Amino acid sequence: MRFTVAIDGPAAAGKGTISRAVAAEFGFAHLDTGLLYRAVGAMGGDPIAAARGLQPQDLARDDLRSMAAGQAASRVAVIPEVRAALLAFQRHFARSAGGAVLDGRDIATVICPEAEVKLFVTASPEVRAHRRWLEVGGDAAQVLAEVIERDARDMGRADAPLRAAETAVIIDTSALTIPEAIARAVAVVKAAR
Ligand code: C5P
Repeated sequence: MRFTVAIDGPAAAGKGTISRAVAAEFGFAHLDTGLLYRAVGAMGGDPIAAARGLQPQDLARDDLRSMAAGQAASRVAVIPEVRAALLAFQRHFARSAGGAVLDGRDIATVICPEAEVKLFVTASPEVRAHRRWLEVGGDAAQVLAEVIERDARDMGRADAPLRAAETAVIIDTSALTIPEAIARAVAVVKAAR
């Protein structure tokens, strides 16, 4: 069975939590595509060579979850050759036997426009910054500024900018609990199966 769930949205909207829950509920494989860009950003040196030579163990580094790694990821993610180098792996994963969930910024628009389910998970910048701040601490105003800066870069780039696919179901998690957000996503997938 081929069945792809594409989940896009800005940083800290709840994509990862929803993706993992949907994958567990339906027994699908899950790929957090942000990790690919984080790994490329963290490797330093020439990002195009890093993307072309990316190995599974590069995704296991324990420093990929930081705010700094997120910013580095969004800087290398504007480079078309980096995106092109990561495309085939993501497309192949999307058609995994047994079903797949991919979360990122361009899954429904570029990587897998034929996905059976497309979700766009979002929340206000203030809510997302607050969630990030609860995780990483530090100066709350600085965390909000970084969230806004990363949104602007991800939405403003020429190649594969962050946007909702026309047929995506939008889930705004600003006022939802985690179980409520998961329940909405699961209901959309169930209806499509
Ligand atoms: O989702 P995450 O915060 O881990 O993504 C880190 C960065 O990687 C994003 O801000 C974005 O610039 C980039 N990215 C992307 N396309 C994806 C996934 C992530 O450009 N499919």
